[in-house]
Amino acid sequence: MSKKTFTLKVFRSHSEEGQYWESFDLELTPGLNVISALMEVQKNPVNSAGVRVAPIAWEQGCLEEVCGSCSMLVNGRPRQACTAIIALILKKTNSREVTLAPLTKFVLVRDLVVDRQVMFENLKKVKGWVSADGSFTEGFGPKISQKAQEINYELSTCMTCGCCSEACPQVSANSKFMGPAPVSQVRLFNNHPTGKADKTERLHSMMSEEGVISCGNAQNCVRVCPKDIALTESIAVLGRDITKQSAKEIFGIGDRE
Ligand code: SF4
Ligand code: SF4
Ligand code: FES
Repeated sequence: MSKKTFTLKVFRSHSEEGQYWESFDLELTPGLNVISALMEVQKNPVNSAGVRVAPIAWEQGCLEEVCGSCSMLVNGRPRQACTAIIALILKKTNSREVTLAPLTKFVLVRDLVVDRQVMFENLKKVKGWVSADGSFTEGFGPKISQKAQEINYELSTCMTCGCCSEACPQVSANSKFMGPAPVSQVRLFNNHPTGKADKTERLHSMMSEEGVISCGNAQNCVRVCPKDIALTESIAVLGRDITKQSAKEIFGIGDRE
């Protein structure tokens, strides 16, 4: 295989033929990323054996690492396909092949498409929003301090992409743990001066087996988050907050902010 070509090895899964790996030989053009490589295959879905095959299914949206929809395993690592540059991957691995597979912690739909609905259901469980219904009659809300803004901006960049759940050993079919992303969102909304109104309810959602107590502190999540969100710091902050909340409820202490 020449330096101008490479092989895309894709995990296929569909009702017609079951699950298998399929390779496609492609030209290595400058700046080609995984999504544009998949688009090349879509234009001409002929595999390395020269057989015309069913088009590959995958998800994409923003194409600039903002929506989180294109998450997949690229050479085994959970990441966004839209920012995975093929030439850089080949150089790093010193190979002419890139493998693509679906995330494993979510329900597989077809080929590279998984259903991440569980992540959005988890955001509902932790009230991942600021309740502001009817507040327009109350005038302006409290100001947000510079310090809170700096912390919250980083936390707000979470795109529910699922990479952290994929990497977390505590997220599995045998565990109820929601994963690190909802933990971080609880920190975000509890740190918001208006969002604080639902703080106790959010902390209660973190006290069950689904919450922060199920984290084993393996720190894999923080290594794969494409937004470099300080997930383990959020886990530590929430750990302290639920301890304070428990003490407050049991002994009526620790009510100071
Ligand atoms: S630190 Fe906790 S949430 Fe992050 S990967 Fe480890 S067990 Fe999962
Ligand atoms: S915390 Fe990071 S890895 Fe996890 S869902 Fe949000 S953006 Fe993705
Ligand atoms: S397409 Fe939106 S993050 Fe990749």
